[in-house]
Amino acid sequence: MGKDRRDGGRLGAGVSRVVYVNGAFVPEAEACVSVFDRGFLFADAVYEVTSVLDGRLIDLPAHLARLDRSLREIGLPRPATDAELEELHRRLVRENGLTEGLVYLQVTRGVAERNFLYPPDPRPTLVLFTQALPLVDRPEARAGLRIVTLDDPRWARRDIKTVQLLSASMAKEIAHARGKDDAWFVEDGLVTEGTASNAHLVSRDGTIVTRDLSSAILAGITRAAILAHAAEAGVAVEERPFTVAEAQSAAEAFVTGATAFVLPVVEIDGAPIGDGRPGPTVRRLRARYIEESRRRSV
Ligand code: PDD
Repeated sequence: MGKDRRDGGRLGAGVSRVVYVNGAFVPEAEACVSVFDRGFLFADAVYEVTSVLDGRLIDLPAHLARLDRSLREIGLPRPATDAELEELHRRLVRENGLTEGLVYLQVTRGVAERNFLYPPDPRPTLVLFTQALPLVDRPEARAGLRIVTLDDPRWARRDIKTVQLLSASMAKEIAHARGKDDAWFVEDGLVTEGTASNAHLVSRDGTIVTRDLSSAILAGITRAAILAHAAEAGVAVEERPFTVAEAQSAAEAFVTGATAFVLPVVEIDGAPIGDGRPGPTVRRLRARYIEESRRRSV
């Protein structure tokens, strides 16, 4: 365990991708942003990650709606319409022959002289690129994730999907250094979310318990899909915070995220969850999510 570095990797190892930067589709080696870009200097930027399965985009309208909200919350004008952004996603998937993986989109407040105050007339930087990744056939879906919990060091507006991801990176490094797979953040004794996922448990009576939406967590698009599937299947859902101890004594635990889909959690801070193996509810939720995504993706 702790060996999964698929998110790392050096550039240029594979075939050159086509990347979108500010109006141009260019080979990845030519895809550049200024050193004066506020995304680079201030992490003054928001992003989205949309998964691609069978060459089609999963839940793109929901990702674009959340992008719109993130942009509004940081007072940044939209760089393009939804229809234009959809076309950019599609063209990148097509040109890169992507069948399984993701499209990453980032909007920054653009280039300006370094100044904590926003430039009065920002010209947003817009970047999109693809990454090929196996999403369905993942060893973690079979083995489950081993989680460590850490105090949540992040800022208080986690509902905005900003690129301030250093604390998430540090937490994942700590988990790997301890031979585990990932970390869950804890604040005031309650689980907030994973480093790049929402955190959930299945209680012993079969209820899915997931933290209610607030500025403490990101409103996950995958979380919303799973809750809708659970409701359709007659599975009870409680949206409320839970402690690490409650998760450790739950029947099952799991995370959701655009590229994780649904992944079982089999251990939290050394305590096995249930019998220490992925459980039936999470297996069903994952299978249902993949099936529905295949059906609804466009
Ligand atoms: N991260 N919480 C955090 C902190 C996240 O970074 C993510 C996703 C989620 C799940 O949201 P969604 O289901 O909409 O992907 C929750 C993406 C995948 C990433 O940074 O790569």
